[in-house]
Amino acid sequence: TWTMSNVIEEQVAAIRETVGDKQVLCALSGGVDSAVAAALVHRAIGDQLTCVFVDHGLLRAGEAEQVETDYVASTGIKLKVYDAAEQFLSELAGVTEPETKRKIIGREFIRLFEQAARDLEAENHIDFLVQGTLYPDVVESGGGTGTANIKSHHNVGGLPDDLKFTLIEPLRTLFKDEVRRLGLELGLPEAMVYRQPFPGPGLAIRIIGEVTAHRLEILRAADAIARAELTAAGLDRSVWQFPVVLLADVRSVGVQGDGRTYGHPVVLRPVSSEDAMTADWSRLPYDLLAKISTRITNEVEDVNRVTLDITSKPPGTIEWE
Ligand code: XMP
Repeated sequence: TWTMSNVIEEQVAAIRETVGDKQVLCALSGGVDSAVAAALVHRAIGDQLTCVFVDHGLLRAGEAEQVETDYVASTGIKLKVYDAAEQFLSELAGVTEPETKRKIIGREFIRLFEQAARDLEAENHIDFLVQGTLYPDVVESGGGTGTANIKSHHNVGGLPDDLKFTLIEPLRTLFKDEVRRLGLELGLPEAMVYRQPFPGPGLAIRIIGEVTAHRLEILRAADAIARAELTAAGLDRSVWQFPVVLLADVRSVGVQGDGRTYGHPVVLRPVSSEDAMTADWSRLPYDLLAKISTRITNEVEDVNRVTLDITSKPPGTIEWE
């Protein structure tokens, strides 16, 4: 019978056979797929695997710590962290156009990953690169489904010639729900295994306008409240994604206490979906929306208005940029 422990056993044997005594590298994104792929490879070859985490400073509250602390504690994986938050911010300074943001982030990410790979190669030759490619990704890239690529996606690819690795893709035959089960079986933290999809360019594409440290702080605080309340209501696994978007260049007048405020709106964008190709806006309970709104306007400095996005995809996309 086909169980997760069979999958682990088979993959562990195959990975050992392929890798031998060579060295392996994996870039963690903070997402489920790379985390599970790396944990599986680690189960097979231990410290012959080195993971690299380029922290671009655009993750949500607590997510970098989750990788650096909880994930490392539960797997014992050897991890090198590159804290690149300031570098990404300076590259993004003055940029408002969505595709330009995406290109800058993709480019910087690859540059830093290359640097990390070269640093490691100086110690030990590396032959293999782990990627968390899933079955639907394989089908999508080979199948030519005819879906228009309307936003440039950021992934590790296009490495230069002197950094050519052989790919190890241990999740190639699996669907997302199987990857989650595998992650649990490998002992990964539930909060990581059940994380909702999150875009590579992170919070940068949820700040409409220029990305600054202060705006990231505001959005992170609002996003953390929305996520905590969704989880407390028991709805985090049925809602596909719940972006919170900061309209950083918009201000509106409000009143709080005895004073006039002139702050920014945030947009709640909860969606239900099967595969992110199409989506509908989630009919969250009014009481939950009310609670999120009250908490955000009370607790997050500079936000004085909370709005709800009730657009399906199409015509809207899930993300605002
Ligand atoms: P849209 O906004 O096009 O998003 O409806 C569809 C799905 O893709 C995610 N997304 C990304 N994921 N890198 C990623 O890995 C990216 O650059 C990226 N852009 C969007 C988005 O969160 C949604 O799940």
